[in-house]
Order: sequence, then structure tokens, then C-alpha cells
Amino acid sequence: MPDRKKFVYLPKAKNDFVVIGRGAAGSPEQEPPRAPGSRVVRPKKRSFAVDQSVTLAGVRLKNPVVVASGTFGFGREYGEFYDLSELGGICCKGLTLHRREGNPPPRIAETPMGILNSVGLQNPGVDAFIAHELPELRRHDLAVIANISGNTPEEYGIMCEKLSDAGVDLIEVNISCPNVKAGGLAYGTRPELAAEVTSVAKAHAGKTPVMVKLSPNVTDITEIARAVAGAGADALSLINTLRGMRIDVNTRRPILKMNTGGLSGPAVLPVAVRMVWEVHNALPGMPILGMGGVAKGEDAAQLMLAGASAVAVGTACFADPYAPIRVRDGLAEIAQRQGLDKVSALTGAVKPW
Ligand code: SIN
Repeated sequence: MPDRKKFVYLPKAKNDFVVIGRGAAGSPEQEPPRAPGSRVVRPKKRSFAVDQSVTLAGVRLKNPVVVASGTFGFGREYGEFYDLSELGGICCKGLTLHRREGNPPPRIAETPMGILNSVGLQNPGVDAFIAHELPELRRHDLAVIANISGNTPEEYGIMCEKLSDAGVDLIEVNISCPNVKAGGLAYGTRPELAAEVTSVAKAHAGKTPVMVKLSPNVTDITEIARAVAGAGADALSLINTLRGMRIDVNTRRPILKMNTGGLSGPAVLPVAVRMVWEVHNALPGMPILGMGGVAKGEDAAQLMLAGASAVAVGTACFADPYAPIRVRDGLAEIAQRQGLDKVSALTGAVKPW
């Protein structure tokens, strides 16, 4: 087991590895149950006769599985389990212009079928990422996606310029963090501000494509999607976490020190599928990175059928570091079983009633 002290940019649950999502009983993805805290099982190597490559905003991914920002740090810790080149890409922990310590603990709370987090963008700052993390990631063959949050549109612009110069493959502009006072949801819930941040990001990102990460905490996600598309976004990622709250009935205190946090994990998957479907219908040509509760291949296939070009695996990584590999293989198996020659044929292929 890797040294947990090194997991500095990952939120910590009470138990190190909790079972959050598993394959349906009898499905090929199902692993034998294991006791909490016991060793995780490496999936068997499998090969498939389907083309797993996809394109997201002009960036080729060797397979459609990316790891979601905030659940995988900068890859170092998970790299002790497997070669990161097995992944299509990594969305790195959210960066800000300057280093942040994040919010006070407790900032992680388990929920039925998921977790609430109020991490508050703990990160080493964009310059430290470029100096220390990016060169390490570049040793692997995967797309590097930098996720950024700013207090002002100008901060987004400065970070885009630095990251584009540094040669990241894609910039994920986060306008949807529910855990910060400035920026975050204030941008992601107002179409005109979302558009302003997007156009500043685009103006400073050079040739690097810009993907905007949308919040589900809105009445109509297509309104925000259209606004950022109109401002030049090259792709959209959705969904970020849903705002939620847990209360200790004995102390009558919220479990999280920030009172509220963002809900992720299998509980949010149907919301994510619905929102990806709505955005894909509203903007059929817009590439989408779908995420929210993906724990197995079937979850990923639902998001792709709804319109995603690629999918991100997040919270499931805390329960099982190999979750992205299982999702990748499960997805390829579904495509193969359905007689497709490429996984990308699933995108948008839902047959609505
Ligand atoms: C956090 O660090 O608070 C999570 C980031 C996010 O939800 O965008």
C-alpha cells in the first residue's frame, strides 16, 4: 500500500478505501468483495478488438477514460499502482494562481452512494505545477489537462497563458467549484459571467483548447452551456458536484466545517447523464467530457450514449485506484459485445422514446 502521507492533494475519507460503486452482481466487472482496508485487486490484463481512441476538442486520447480533477492529485500516488499511460488523460487537481491550503477540516464526509467534499482548492499554485508536476506527468503517454480556478477573469487569463506556454494538452476552466467564496459558482451560475471568463481564457490560451467545467447547481444547464459555447469554448466538461449538506443530529452541527460541500459518487450519475444529454441536444457539435458517479463501464457507456465524447472517473478512485482501468475495459467490452468497431460510436447514440 502506498504511503498515505504522500497523498497530499487528495481529500481523505475516514476509511482509506471505502466501497463506493461496484459492477452489477454477476457482471464481468464485479470483483470479489473485500474487507474495508484490505488490499485492492489489480484487474487482469484484457485485450479488445475495438478501437478505443477518441478525440476531445482536437486532442487525441488513446482511450476515452480520463481521471477527474480533485480525485487523482497530479497522478504521483496512483502511479504507484499502475503506469499512468494506461489512461486516456488526467485532469489535474484544480490550480489557482497562488498556492492554497484549502478549507479547514472536516472537509470530507461519506454519504450513501457518494461523498461530500469542501476541500476548497488546496493546491501548490500554477507555477509549482509547471515546475514540479508537469515534467513528471510528461514522462507518461497521456493527455495532460490542467484545471484552473480564478478569483477574477484576469487570473484565469494569466494561468491560461502560463499553461499554454508550458504545453499542457487542454485547459479545463473550472467555473463550478462550490467550495470557495470568490469565483467558483458565482461564475458558473450566471451566463454573462461564465461567457466573460471563457472569452478571457480563450484570448490567453493560444493554441491550447479550452474546456469549460459546468455546474449542475443551475435551473437550466443548457443556458450556461450556450453562453460559454458562444464565447468560444472548445469543449465542455460536466458535471461538477451538486451542493449538499449533512448534519450530526447529536451535536446539531454540520459534519463539514464549511457547512455545505459538493456531492459526488454514484448517487449523482443519473443527474450527470440527464445533463450531458440535454447539453448534447442543445449543442450537438460540442465535444463533452462527461463525469459524475462513473464507477464501471456501463456508467461510462451511459454518459457516452447521452452525448459525451470521453468520460472522467473521479470518486470511484478513492474506493479503488484501479477504477479507471476497470471502466476503460468495461466500456471496450460493451462496445465489442454490441458489435461496434470503435468505442466512439457510442457517442450520442441513445434512442430516446
Ligand atoms: C474543491 O477543491 O473544493 C473541489 C473543486 C471543485 O469542486 O471544483
